[in-house]
Amino acid sequence: MKKAVFPGSFDPVTRGHMDLIARSANMFDELLIAVLVNIGKMPLFSVEERVEMLTVLTKQLPNVTVKSFDGLLADFVEQEQADAIIRGLRNTTDFEYEMALAQNNYKLNTRADTVFLATAPEYSYISSSGIKEIYRFGGSIEEMVPELIFHRLQSKNV
Ligand code: PNS
Repeated sequence: MKKAVFPGSFDPVTRGHMDLIARSANMFDELLIAVLVNIGKMPLFSVEERVEMLTVLTKQLPNVTVKSFDGLLADFVEQEQADAIIRGLRNTTDFEYEMALAQNNYKLNTRADTVFLATAPEYSYISSSGIKEIYRFGGSIEEMVPELIFHRLQSKNV
């Protein structure tokens, strides 16, 4: 039984995230989505809200679960006995950051290798930070997020 962890801030969850979740759930026996408790950041959605929304969004995928974590990902991977860490790559800017992250994690704990998935081309322009900025200034983000997130965003005062 191979178990992967897909860590991230997911603030908010994007269509790109959902695509990666579906694809990696197909590749592993178990997929655990790990929502970072962002200490020091002012997230748009609380960690509880993000976990709840991801749980609703993945209810059709029987091998997917959602939890929050804080501290080191390498420690979480150990605690969860995971075999792999999933991360998406959109472009070369991601590559530099993701390579450093993967190598740091490997240095801290060799039990879980990082598996990079190439973001589907139609989602490679989407980022959670971009969505927040566009939304704050009244731009349309409907095509970038799952419908549930779009509706939940309407109730946020940003
Ligand atoms: O969605 P994000 O914000 O790009 O995800 C980043 C995340 C959560 C994968 C990363 O910040 C992380 O793993 N944070 C936990 C602390 C840690 O283990 N850092 C890596 C050592 S450099």
